[in-house]
Amino acid sequence: MTPTGLAQSLSSIKPRLDALEAALDKQFASDVDCVAEMLSYARRYSGKRLRPALVFVIADLAGGTRDAHVTLGAVVEMIHLATLVHDDVIDRATMRRRSASINDRWSNKDAVLLGDVIFSRAIRLLVSIGDERALDELTACVSTLCEGEIHQNQLAGRVDVDEATYFSIIEKKTASLYAVGCELSAHLAGAGAALVGAFGHFGRALGSAFQIIDDCLDLTGDEDEVGKSLGTDVVNGKMTLPLIHLLTQLEGEERAEVREIIEGRNADAAAVARVRRLVGERGSLDYALGRAESCVEDALDELRRQLDPSVVPVLEEIAGFVLKRRH
Ligand code: FPP
Ligand code: MG
Repeated sequence: MTPTGLAQSLSSIKPRLDALEAALDKQFASDVDCVAEMLSYARRYSGKRLRPALVFVIADLAGGTRDAHVTLGAVVEMIHLATLVHDDVIDRATMRRRSASINDRWSNKDAVLLGDVIFSRAIRLLVSIGDERALDELTACVSTLCEGEIHQNQLAGRVDVDEATYFSIIEKKTASLYAVGCELSAHLAGAGAALVGAFGHFGRALGSAFQIIDDCLDLTGDEDEVGKSLGTDVVNGKMTLPLIHLLTQLEGEERAEVREIIEGRNADAAAVARVRRLVGERGSLDYALGRAESCVEDALDELRRQLDPSVVPVLEEIAGFVLKRRH
């Protein structure tokens, strides 16, 4: 399903997605012309509006939307955008959303500072909600996602990264923002502790699935379709779930060769192509996709137990979109 298709099928949240764009318009302005240009360019990084859409859908399921939900959606989206601006510097990525990344088009210096501009404005906007729990959990979450990113960087080139470590990293660097967005949406809607917890669990599972699919796309995707630099995990020696599985499937020379490619952290295009072929042939992509599916199924089961089953399909639709996405 295309992002537009998703938005259409969730037509009840369309007015709030429009209000979100208006809130983002204000946040992505500057009286410094070059900064205004960079901000409007960075705004294109967020295409799917998946995180705010989740905030709005959950608000309806958990008790009803308030103005604070639009602000929460904008804050979560801005934190996400700031992390992407910084992430492309860290990953030395040159492409994002079918255009040059900010670090490539301007410079690393400007990308770091622009990420800080977006991030600090997000926190200022968060303060305006006036909810202590939201302030506490989202600021803690930013620290958590940076810790996950640092942990991942420190393990670059290490082929002994196991699944438990991989899941701990992706829960921090990606799933934590989903979890907190979902949890706070239910909290701001006035839901009780059990429901707030179940939505948080759902967000964490969906965020983990999102990152697993992202890691598969890094190996299988077409750069023009996905719209960002691919193959970067192999080049940067980042052990993702399909690569962890692949090493368990290889023996002898083949295993030694793949270990060398990842440890070398300087793979050429031929080496990346070889790894891409092997993850398909050895079932590593299917394995990773299966893990993503079961993450989401477990979380949906919990929600089916907590919610009237008739309202779960909208969350299944979002989960299906995450699992099937190709960009
Ligand atoms: C995507 O990883 C990156 C993240 C989910 C989080 C990155 C977090 C930071 C860089 C910290 C930012 C700090 C502040 C204060 C804003 P990926 O490389 O797997 O995804 P990609 O394929 O989209 O590049
Ligand atoms: Mg990256």
